[in-house]
Amino acid sequence: MQELMQRRQEIVDAAHHLAQRGLVEGSAGNISCRFGEHYLVTATGARFTTITTDQVPLVDRDGNVIDGDVKPTSEMQMHISVYDETSAKAVVHTHSPYATALSLVLDEVPLIHYTQLTLGGSIKMVPYATFGTKKLADLVKKKILGQKGVILRGHGTICSGKDVAAAAENAELLEWVCKVYHIASQHGTPREMKPGEVVGVAAAATLKSYGTVQKSK
Ligand code: 13P
Repeated sequence: MQELMQRRQEIVDAAHHLAQRGLVEGSAGNISCRFGEHYLVTATGARFTTITTDQVPLVDRDGNVIDGDVKPTSEMQMHISVYDETSAKAVVHTHSPYATALSLVLDEVPLIHYTQLTLGGSIKMVPYATFGTKKLADLVKKKILGQKGVILRGHGTICSGKDVAAAAENAELLEWVCKVYHIASQHGTPREMKPGEVVGVAAAATLKSYGTVQKSK
């Protein structure tokens, strides 16, 4: 029971953080994580600014409530698409403004910054479909393989990670890349990374354990 509460708290903390960072507004967005054979998910209608642990029900993959007394997110099927197609342990859906804006004018966000490689390279766009539908979930399924984040055209983003904090971090990174792309495009055509540059980053990251705090000795 203690672990269940801890996982719920992680979702609440991530929700508050993402709201504070401006990646969702109102009751937009939802978060989930695997919990054994079940899933902890934010309730439909929950507001990330004020969400509490009693608004994070435990559900099965069909959205039937196992523990809790509130209905799960309307995007349950979309989250399940990500779990089915990837090794994700947690999923975050946002309405990030820069990513959503770019989805209205681009077919993908090219690889412009090396940190994007952790998301899978260029950022793919999922065609538009109504929120909460099986159609949207099926469209996500087709684009998510090999990606830690994709953009839903005219809607928002869906990102994943090894835990809730990692999925939220990927959502922030995706939005940051879109912001950089937007700023650059005010001044010209953003330059894509060259294949040789990509190979160099992969080698350097492996060698230096990039992105981790390391002992000096
Ligand atoms: P829920 O409130 O059902 O989670 O839906 C919010 C949302 O962002 C739909 O895409």
